[in-house]
Amino acid sequence: MKFIHLTDTHLVADGGELYGTNPKQRLRQAIAHLLARQPDAEAVVVTGDLTHHGHAQAYAHLRECLSALTLPVYPILGNHDSRVVFKEYFPGVAQDEHGFIQYSVDFGSHLALFLDTNEPGVHWGVYCETRAAWLRARLAETDRPVLLFMHHPFFPIGIPSMDFLSLRDPAPLLAAIAGHEARIRHVFFGHIHRPICGQYRGMGYSTLRGTNHQVALDLHGSAQCIIGSHEQPQYAVVQVDAEQLLIHVEDYLDCDRQFLLHEMRDGAAGLK
Ligand SMILES: [Fe+2]
Repeated sequence: MKFIHLTDTHLVADGGELYGTNPKQRLRQAIAHLLARQPDAEAVVVTGDLTHHGHAQAYAHLRECLSALTLPVYPILGNHDSRVVFKEYFPGVAQDEHGFIQYSVDFGSHLALFLDTNEPGVHWGVYCETRAAWLRARLAETDRPVLLFMHHPFFPIGIPSMDFLSLRDPAPLLAAIAGHEARIRHVFFGHIHRPICGQYRGMGYSTLRGTNHQVALDLHGSAQCIIGSHEQPQYAVVQVDAEQLLIHVEDYLDCDRQFLLHEMRDGAAGLK
């Protein structure tokens, strides 16, 4: 199974600029790039902050951009999104019995679980007992390996301002996954706008830069100030099978200055 991880597209209603760059243009460039370079990808996941203000016209722009993809797209909500407006523009995306945008998909031999951490009116994440009951039920249905997708991380990532806005109370989620950690092979998240990978309680995790603006590596700053940056946007190429989970990150606006580094003529003897 090979899929593309996009995150934090932050589209705006007028299709114009946000923080000095154009999120719609940059998403279009990402999609054109991945279609050209990763034609064997089987799906695209977008881990939230699909829009910047949750405006209807921004979701219309998103739908227009994603229409260029012929492969399945699996979006979830971030803190900048509107669940109500999202449903109007993406009625085909599954939701749980309580209306949260939560659903499961078969990713090869893995069960992919997409979680909803959006809470209207706040920027931190919420994963309440109601949502956690859905997750607990999905995990109880199978003993297959699991991939989790969510916007907010449920563990600290070391940037004080972003940790202030992570999952506010991780207890319901941690209780739902208790005993299943060994088969949760990876947690894919968004929100941080930076490339990060690691492990938490034995579960691998990763995120990456958004497609528009980024967050600076500010490990000693204030919890009250998020420092932005204009580092290159990214998408990730993920391959997962029974033996390995492999993630490549592509700076898709800054990878065309390529050159022949070395040509192998007769194996190691030709190396200099
Ligand atoms: Fe974001």
